[in-house]
Amino acid sequence: MSDDNYILEIKNLSVQALIKDRHFNIINKINLSIPKEKTVAIVGESGSGKTITALSIIKLLEKNLKIKEGSIIFDSKDLTELSEEQIREIRGKEISFVFQEPMTALNPVVDIKTQITEILTKHNLCDEETAIKKAKEILTELSIPSSKINLYPHNFSGGQRQRILLAMALISEPKLLIADEPTTALDVVTQMEILDTIEKFKKEKKLSVILITHNFSIVSNYSEYTYVMYLGEIMEAGKTENIVKNPRHPYTKALLNSVIKMDNKNRLKSIKGSTPSISETPEGCRFINRCDYADEKCAKSPSEKITESGYYRCWNV
Ligand SMILES: Nc1ncnc2c1ncn2[C@@H]1O[C@H](COP(=O)(O)OP(=O)(O)OP(=O)(O)O)[C@@H](O)[C@H]1O
Ligand code: SF4
Ligand SMILES: [Mg+2]
Repeated sequence: MSDDNYILEIKNLSVQALIKDRHFNIINKINLSIPKEKTVAIVGESGSGKTITALSIIKLLEKNLKIKEGSIIFDSKDLTELSEEQIREIRGKEISFVFQEPMTALNPVVDIKTQITEILTKHNLCDEETAIKKAKEILTELSIPSSKINLYPHNFSGGQRQRILLAMALISEPKLLIADEPTTALDVVTQMEILDTIEKFKKEKKLSVILITHNFSIVSNYSEYTYVMYLGEIMEAGKTENIVKNPRHPYTKALLNSVIKMDNKNRLKSIKGSTPSISETPEGCRFINRCDYADEKCAKSPSEKITESGYYRCWNV
């Protein structure tokens, strides 16, 4: 594929954290490409670096984190080189995001009409009257009666608030939507409604999507490509159907197993051990302490092996 087919390309990105006077590569040399009008899922256990990757794109990293190397190419511009003012022009307009916490992301003392329309008026995308019309349309599309547009966040349920956040993210017709666990706390019907709306925008408004989730059934149903992350690195990447049907990396297999297999008490079978803290990141393959296939080779960082639609990084499988 030529570069023109990607809306976003992350190349060799490392994010460094300063923790108690020491530096750690919290994200380590990752590459990630988002094809136009497709959904790319990022999956991995808690602490694998999914949110930090998303926040690096829109430059919302906390103060003790900084991009150490690499580039993030969006629409032929390297986002890592833009000033705060330049990135503010892109954030919310060309790249939108939805995060997990609907209550903290909405301002409790401002009505939703103001919150939704100001995305359009702030970026001078249209006048106020048109903005209100568009806000009503998108709320209706997300099953929220437009008559409720003057109400405040506390007047809505958790699922409705998440739909309002999605309305805010989509109203500017962005080129890229970053959805970080957008449906985790929601019931299945609301989950599907939100993900179906994103699908509709993908087709009708040429939207590309980064979908961060723990849920492999969401990955299977809603993404074309998948990146599997662990401890700040990409372990495996490729077309979703290949990854789900024929996972190669031991971590991907373990993740899929933890979804499929239940123990005799019907609990999810989890992967052995737990993700180490970033200050305990092992040398070589970062999965070494939890891997059934590990041997002495794994003390060195594995190189990429090519698959039918992507790659994985492991010495032994
Ligand atoms: N400001 C920070 N300073 C130091 N370490 C941080 C900071 N923010 C996040 N981390 C660490 O970086 C790692 C990756 O965090 P991140 O939030 O990206 O994980 P995640 O994959 O999104 O997890 P979850 O599924 O729980 O949301 C974690 O070990 C986390 O503790
Ligand atoms: S490189 Fe070694 S430790 Fe890492 S996943 Fe492969 S076998 Fe396991
Ligand atoms: Mg996260």
